[in-house]
Parts: sequence; C-alpha cells; structure tokens
Amino acid sequence: MAKVYITTAIPYMNGTPHIGHAMDYCLADTYARYQKLIGNDVRMSAGTDEHGNKIEQKAKELGVDVKEYVDGNVEIFKDFISKLGVEYTDFVRTTDADHERRVQEIWKILSPYIYKAKYAGWYCTGCERYVTEKEYDENGGVCPDHQKPYQKFEEENYYFKISEFKDKIREAIESGELLILPEFRKKEILALLEESPDVSISRPKSQLDWGVPVPGDADQVMYVWMDALSNYITVLGYPENDISDWWPAAAEFVGKDILRFHAIIWPAMLMGLGLPLPKVLVSHGMVLADGQKMSKSIGNVVNPVDVLEKHGVSAFRYFFLRHIDTFADSDFTWEKFENAYNNELANDLGNLVQRLATMIHKNGVEIAFDEPDLPKEYSDYMNSFELSKAFDYTWDLVQNINRMIDDEKPWMLAKAGETEKLAEVLGKLANELKSVNKMLSPFLPEVAEKIDAVLVNPVTPPAQPLFPKD
Ligand code: MSP
Repeated sequence: MAKVYITTAIPYMNGTPHIGHAMDYCLADTYARYQKLIGNDVRMSAGTDEHGNKIEQKAKELGVDVKEYVDGNVEIFKDFISKLGVEYTDFVRTTDADHERRVQEIWKILSPYIYKAKYAGWYCTGCERYVTEKEYDENGGVCPDHQKPYQKFEEENYYFKISEFKDKIREAIESGELLILPEFRKKEILALLEESPDVSISRPKSQLDWGVPVPGDADQVMYVWMDALSNYITVLGYPENDISDWWPAAAEFVGKDILRFHAIIWPAMLMGLGLPLPKVLVSHGMVLADGQKMSKSIGNVVNPVDVLEKHGVSAFRYFFLRHIDTFADSDFTWEKFENAYNNELANDLGNLVQRLATMIHKNGVEIAFDEPDLPKEYSDYMNSFELSKAFDYTWDLVQNINRMIDDEKPWMLAKAGETEKLAEVLGKLANELKSVNKMLSPFLPEVAEKIDAVLVNPVTPPAQPLFPKD
C-alpha cells in the first residue's frame, strides 16, 4: 500500500466560490478516490488563501473587519466543498497560527537565498504578481485578466534567488522528475523560467499590512505567494515534523493560470529547503461561459451553487468531470448541462439500472457476482490523469450494456420460458453493471453507492428513479 498525498490550490478568500474553484476539488477528489480504490493510503489537503492586498481591499470596500470577513468566507467554502461530495483529510488556513509560524520558519531556512534590494516595477493586485517591463509593454500597461492598470511599486523588498535554482528546475522539468501535465505546457514554463528574474518576496508593511510578518524585520510583510505555496507542507507539520511519509506530493492540482508559480517559485523554494519536488503538477484548463472568460463585468458568471441545486451533486460532478476536458478550456452552458443530465445520466444510466433491476427482480433470478477488476485502459487513463477520458471510456461501457440488453432481448427469453438462458444473460449484464459501477465510483460516489445498494442479491429496483426528470 503506497502513501499518496494530493493537494488542491487554496482559493483567495475575497469572494464566494466560483465555478472554476470546483475544478481543483472535483479532479483531486476523483483522483484520490481512485487511489483509495486501488488500495492506497491517501491524504488530501485543501485550504484557504487569506492574506494580501486584494482581500484587505475587499474587506475595506465592504466596511468589515478583514479577519471577520475571511472567517465568513472560509465557512462558505467549506460548505461548498462538502456540497461537491469532496473529501479532504487536512485543511489549512493561511491565517492559522501554526501556518504563520511555520512559514516564518521556512523563511529562516531559506535565508541563505534571500537578499534585500530596491524594487522598481509593476504589479497586478488581481493576480498578486509582479510583471516584467516586457509584459507591461505587451499588455499596454493594463492586466488583460483583471482589466486594471498595473501599479507602479518603488520600494525596498526582500528577494529570493530563483537564479540559484534555475538550472536544477529546468533539469527536473525536462527529465520528468517534476512532471508537468498536460505536456504541452512544459515548453511554455521552460520559456518563462528562462526569463524569470529573482522574485520579490516581501512588501513594506506600510504598503501591505495584512500578511505574515517577515521574521526579524518588523517593517516587512511576506509576499502572498510565498505564504500560500508553503501551505502544502505546513499542513503536514513542516518544519518541525518529519513529513517524508507523505512528501513529495503524488499530485498537485492547479489551474493553468497559476501553473507558473507552482512550476518555478515553488520548486525553487523546495530546493532551497532541501525537500523533493512534487511528482506531478496537474494543470487543468479554464471553465468558460459561451467561449468567454466568466466575469462580473460581462455578466456571464455562473454561480456553482445554482448548478448544484438544479440536479444535485452527481449531475454537477458528471458534467464537470466528463464534459469539461481535464486539460483544455471548456464551456459551461445550461443547455449542455441539461442535455447531459437528461440524455446521459437519466437515460443511459438511470434507465439502465431501473430496467435491469426490474427484470432480475420480476423473474426471481439469483445473481452470482464476481469481484470486478478495473480494465487496463481505464487505469492507464487514471494513472496519467486523463480523468475526462477515463470517464468517457466508462460511459462507453454504460452504453454498451444498454446495447447488450437491446441485442439479447431478455424479455423475449422470459416470455419463451427460457429460464436458464435468461439467468445467464441477466447474470452477465448485472456483472457488467457492477464492473462499470466500480469505475464510476471515483467520479460519482453517491450514485455508485446507490447502484451498489440495488445490486445486492436479490437485486431490487430503486424505489425512486436515480435521476428524476422535471
Ligand atoms: N490563491 C491562489 C492559489 C494559491 S495555491 C498555493 C489562487 N486563488 S484563486 O481563487 O484565484 O484560484 C483558485 C483555483 O481556482 C486555481 O487553481 C484557479 O486556476 C482555479 N480557477 C479559478 N477560476 C477558474 C476558472 N474559470 N476555470 C477553472 N479554474 C479556475 O489563484
């Protein structure tokens, strides 16, 4: 039994959950459940990113105390995660006293690579990121993601020597020691790495008050990304605990927009700490609305809670894990969501379970169930994090069982009194469903449990349809 540690990005607490936040959670949860299914011991972390100007400004705008503001949002996020049917073992808030203390310890360990210098350049508070002159010029001085002019910073900061680790990071990425998925992002990251200057990792307290104080310098506060990236190990108790049972992480799930921090700053920090790098960075694409980025100004933001409430958690996970490609940007539309629910979940799967269980029950057939193995194609997709492909493969098998029923016509066998043949056919179909259900279980745990309950001997039809239609 291997020990598998899986992490999810920690969202900023400057608002309520966005539909994109669900991606990290659902993908990581599915992968974690798959790892448990194949017998591994799994730990999965989640958490909240609570420091920085962006959050402080939002609380000010609302006229509320910043700590009270984040406390409220954290509860909303925890509730959201639980509504998604996502199970984590560890939760970290960047305002936790233990986290703050550990991040300061991390800073001290990294001090041989930290120096103080004047910073003069540009910053986007929306991205919480420094931008180069080149980017500033290319974007005409305005952040394309946040539509806000970059801010000019001229101040004395602490810097972290990314330069010291560049060669080793490049080697780790090129050799696959740090695997970046999808593969095509690797080139992009290697190009960014070449251009990466040493990164500023603090701000004067006069400019940023809401953050972890730099140890030994009361006038400086830590850069949010240094604070935030550390969460993956502070949650395990680093540095005072030996984390080698769980670290390095088997997989870190992040959106493509934040891959650069995870593939450059984070490996440099880990190298400075003398810790191994995560094995895989899984960077998923963005969820779009009608091909566009969701934004309040366009007015096309889809509230994930509305989607969850429409047809429940299984419909939500079904859509986001199958119809939103694991790696590419994909569209959410209500029409696509409704079609997926009605035509696929309700018709392909719901009717199948109902139909098969009813026939078995009505004909009093006793089924001998075998313990199914996972097909190689499915495991290969799962092991290479192609989760939407593994789900497609599973769904083909669901449709295949429907075709088998249509071909074998068990109702004709019943009519003709061919009881032996009928028992054989229904036995085969029920075993196929059991096998497919095992494959479905990491994606749709709630549904898989219901189907398992139906598949007890004697097989009983569900009292309620699995997916009721309006
Ligand atoms: N706080 C940082 C992460 C720190 S991790 C050490 C952050 N927060 S975020 O709230 O902006 O984003 C959290 C996660 O949600 C990221 O993985 C991000 O990519 C994901 N998404 C936010 N909007 C998204 C979409 N529209 N689509 C898919 N995922 C996106 O970045």
